[in-house]
Amino acid sequence: MEEIGNRREKTVGENDYADEEQRAEIDMWRYFFGFSEMAALKCAIELGIAEAMEAHGRAGISLSELATALNCSSSYLYRIIRFLAHLKFLKEKCSDATNGAKLYTLTPLGRLLMKQGERGMAALVLLETSPVMLAPWQALSGRVRNNDRPAFEAAHGEDIWDFAAENQNHSKLINEAMACDARMVVPAIVNGCADVFDGVDSVVDVGGGDGTTLGMLVKAFPWIKGINFDLPHVVSVAPERNSVEHIGGDMFKAVPQANAAFLMWVLHDWCDEECIEILKKCREAIPKVKGKVIIVDAVIEEADDEQDKEQDDDNYKLKGAKLMLDMVMMAHTNRGKERTQEEWQYVLDKAGFSRPRTKSSALPSVYQIPSCYHALIQFELQSKQNLLEFVMAKIRLPKDRSSVVNLTASHFSLAPSA
Ligand SMILES: C[S@@+](CC[C@H](N)C(=O)[O-])C[C@H]1O[C@@H](n2cnc3c(N)ncnc32)[C@H](O)[C@@H]1O
Repeated sequence: MEEIGNRREKTVGENDYADEEQRAEIDMWRYFFGFSEMAALKCAIELGIAEAMEAHGRAGISLSELATALNCSSSYLYRIIRFLAHLKFLKEKCSDATNGAKLYTLTPLGRLLMKQGERGMAALVLLETSPVMLAPWQALSGRVRNNDRPAFEAAHGEDIWDFAAENQNHSKLINEAMACDARMVVPAIVNGCADVFDGVDSVVDVGGGDGTTLGMLVKAFPWIKGINFDLPHVVSVAPERNSVEHIGGDMFKAVPQANAAFLMWVLHDWCDEECIEILKKCREAIPKVKGKVIIVDAVIEEADDEQDKEQDDDNYKLKGAKLMLDMVMMAHTNRGKERTQEEWQYVLDKAGFSRPRTKSSALPSVYQIPSCYHALIQFELQSKQNLLEFVMAKIRLPKDRSSVVNLTASHFSLAPSA
């Protein structure tokens, strides 16, 4: 610390602290009003902004043209458009042909706001911003502080699946959101993990929703016969799909027989004991030799955030998405959660997929399916001696955006108690 006249100069440490405090205040504005981002996306989707812009052509659309196409007020629309441009969903440019009027185009991020099409993710936004899904967030602190009723139950009096069974509109929102996630993830599985489906004649998709996932898998691997298994109220309205049979039932009671059981975004809805029950039912459904269980779910890394941030910003964002999903599980399911590798290992061991005590005790690395926060875990019943192959898919998306798969395998034995 140095004194110059009466003025005291700040030390380097004090300056750093002041900078950090100032940055904290700026950062905090995002959290005060963070909900407005989600609300603006919902508004854009309900208005059909992305569809109107796409229909107009990629050269760009002016505000007045967009207001006419959407039949709405330009002054309000301008404020939404300006915010979406700030969030990088749209790009604005000036054009000579329009006397300097701004033209707007969709960015790749903006195209994800479409309701239809392979890359449209609007359904996920519409589900998460629905009043039904927003209400449980008000009960989150009660759940944490007093281990009160699950937040969804506190808000709606029953769990999400019973609620969906009684409210077809909400069930439709869930199924459409899941289908839109599947349209993003399944191509990455098909491109990155085709080997997993070699020699598999039939797959039962447990908690398969409206069958979008299986429809895509059987199209990519036409030798597979698909069984889409979900609650009766879900499969009764699922569309017909080639080579896919819909079966209604309860995975806690029995799972239809197939060569492989596939579970995507299902186990994270349940606590460890429930996952173990589901996995045991899956094991009963597959052949003792060469039967497979394939899990697609998130794996939370315990790595240090700052390090991730420096190393690869996309990894940092994907980790953030997984942690947000964990919050969503706390708000929307009774006891579901996202799991670390160690937590997965516990569940898998207890379900009877345990590793023999060999010198290689470290778990294989888990990497994400490109651009997603899902990892793929595969077990194969290998031989009559009940040897299992446990593979975690390591899939990287290099800078050229082509998928490269690197599977790390180690052997696991079936626990005698299972
Ligand atoms: C998060 S969604 C995943 C849907 C699909 N696997 C996907 O990724 O698109 C969970 C699914 O589990 C289903 N489910 C919930 N309880 C079930 C049960 N007891 N038996 C069978 N399916 C169930 C739900 O209806 C829902 O479709």
